[in-house]
Amino acid sequence: MKTYDLLIKGGTIVTSGDVYDGDIAIIDGKIALIGASLDVPATRVIDASGKYLLPGGIDVHTHFDMPFGGTVTADNFYTGGAAAACGGTTTVVDFSIQGKGQTLTQTIDTWLAKAADCPIDYGIHVAVTDMTEEIMAEMPKVIANGFPSFKLFMTYDGLRVNDDVLMKALLIAKENGGLVSVHAENYYVIDYYLKEFQKTGKIEPKYHALSRPPLAEGEATSRAIRLAKIVGAPLYIVHLSCEDSLKEVARAREEGFPIMAETCPQYLVLSYDNYEEPDFNGAKYVMSPPLRPKENQEPLWQGLKNQTLQVVATDHCSFNFKGQKDLGREFFGKIPNGAPGVETRMAVLYSYGVGKDRFSLQRFVALTATNPAKIYGLYPQKGTIAVGSDADVVVFDPQAKHVITKSLLHENVDYTAYEGIPVTGYPVMTVARGQVIAENGKFTGKAGAGKLVKRKNLQVI
Ligand code: URP
Ligand code: ZN
Ligand code: ZN
Repeated sequence: MKTYDLLIKGGTIVTSGDVYDGDIAIIDGKIALIGASLDVPATRVIDASGKYLLPGGIDVHTHFDMPFGGTVTADNFYTGGAAAACGGTTTVVDFSIQGKGQTLTQTIDTWLAKAADCPIDYGIHVAVTDMTEEIMAEMPKVIANGFPSFKLFMTYDGLRVNDDVLMKALLIAKENGGLVSVHAENYYVIDYYLKEFQKTGKIEPKYHALSRPPLAEGEATSRAIRLAKIVGAPLYIVHLSCEDSLKEVARAREEGFPIMAETCPQYLVLSYDNYEEPDFNGAKYVMSPPLRPKENQEPLWQGLKNQTLQVVATDHCSFNFKGQKDLGREFFGKIPNGAPGVETRMAVLYSYGVGKDRFSLQRFVALTATNPAKIYGLYPQKGTIAVGSDADVVVFDPQAKHVITKSLLHENVDYTAYEGIPVTGYPVMTVARGQVIAENGKFTGKAGAGKLVKRKNLQVI
């Protein structure tokens, strides 16, 4: 009889469709057997009684080692990947960002070099910042090569595209089996307020939020959706933050258009009030879109339950408070945009979603693993617990209680935006392709153990 590498016994297996008691036997990085009371020899046997066995989390929105806002994000692929592992995430899809004059292939190659020491599996999106005719002509090749997803910015000087370019990119992606996502905020509204606030001495972090009103996001979301409708293309809205945008997505989906969207934990549990924290602490939450007034939170939770939103990703984009966020002490417009979150996503979403009866355990799995895998071409290799799938399994203790604090986490950044937030439910072990890479709050994986996952067969859900 063969000896399995790992046997996880006595847990409750959760997929996006099922919850049932069962054991999992793993060999050569794959799930080999699932069954009740499996009695097979294994090199290591893990007792998971009282725990959930979840598909490894998939975070399709991270920024590791990214030059942005005049500095570089604090987490690289090693530190970000290790933190992700400790938080129950076994795969990230990170945004490579095109440098001026770089081809898409050069952009991807730059990112592959950065990702060489990633301890968890990874895919690469391309954030296109210089969408020329040549770049459009290159899109089919990179899609076919396993990099089928692109982000276009509708705002940010030097990064943004006009509507005609967005429309053409949507069309090319559609014709070649790719997917365009957008950062949807109205550039002109933000530009107006930025200049106005600077002129009138409104320089504190809270003015970052006030310069980017929800309606400016809703307008751009609506425009992007209309452009996608015109060319009949699928579209994915990243980091959707407010009710106004949510309504646009809901309407398009009700009409039957292939529009998908993610939100992030920060928009679910943090709010505009955080910008009012004293001593420049509001800078910790300077991200785009910004945190919104609290009344946006419940509609977003509803959207996660009723399938208007398909994914919860993090937009992990960490900058240290000291030395990086500081760049904007004299003017909020110079604060590098972004906040950490790759390690806290699973616990926060479980605790405030499932734990508060806002949605089911299966929906939690759909939002954190299965849906991102389907949309971004990782399914069924990843995103489920099934025989033949990668053995990416999180042993999750629904009773574990923590108060999130910087010292609990492994992210390479000097603060967490979730400081002081209590959670019930936490990952206690993370298995990635059959290796235990995190256990009881300790990272046990290896630099470079992660593999590039080339992606295909993107689904509209
Ligand atoms: O503030 C953010 N979100 N920073 C990261 C870049 C982006 O727009 O996703
Ligand atoms: Zn963005
Ligand atoms: Zn982002």
